[in-house]
Amino acid sequence: MKLGVNIDHIATIREARKTYEPDPVKGALIAQDAGADQITFHLREDRRHIQDEDVIRLRCTIKRIPLNMEMAPTEEMKLIAIDVKPDRVTLVPEKRQEITTEGGLDVLKMKVYLTSLIGELKENDIKVATFIDPVEKQIDASIEIGADAVELHTGEYANATGSNVQKELERIKKAAKYGREKGISVFAGHGLTYTNVQPIAAIEEIEELNIGHSIIANSVFWGLHEAVYRMKKLILEARKQV
Ligand code: PXP
Repeated sequence: MKLGVNIDHIATIREARKTYEPDPVKGALIAQDAGADQITFHLREDRRHIQDEDVIRLRCTIKRIPLNMEMAPTEEMKLIAIDVKPDRVTLVPEKRQEITTEGGLDVLKMKVYLTSLIGELKENDIKVATFIDPVEKQIDASIEIGADAVELHTGEYANATGSNVQKELERIKKAAKYGREKGISVFAGHGLTYTNVQPIAAIEEIEELNIGHSIIANSVFWGLHEAVYRMKKLILEARKQV
């Protein structure tokens, strides 16, 4: 199983002071050294953390492992992606007032527009994933519009308490199995932490997890290298790959 490390919140700290440190590109290199299989970033429309210049520097620096750009499905973001050429784009819904991405993309509602957007990205050799709730009809719609992969939103699982944790886990398991049976790659992410990652990592059909906040938060105490290393170790243990 692969670990994509989301470096946005390194830039969040920098933007708190509008200064030059800490540098998310330096963070990406440390994450790569510590065992990250992919670097993920989200260029938000309001530029609250990652800036356009970071995106260009990331593309020039990260060559050994894939670069995954999370973006809203807008014309502005499409043009930036085509220019910068990340290895993959993950289409996410975006609202200005939200603290973080709140729900999955409603692929069903935007089928016509997304089909043409994905077509253009793929013509430019960029793979495309849709970030969706773990719901079969959203997986079907993602396949129909030509996505290479779906990333299942694990936020409801992460926020669940009591018996709902198992219920949410079963939803994700079922969706992951459904996606694989239909022949699409299945990833997962959002809200995953050192304490809740292992049941998700153990789901055989999921190939990749994208994790940001918990890794960056704990890097304050452990250092970024150690924080990435510990998360990767937990994932591999859950998969019995160590
Ligand atoms: N995957 C996607 C598509 C996301 O939008 C985010 C948040 O930017 C993440 C994964 C990482 O979520 P978290 O920061 O909660 O680990």
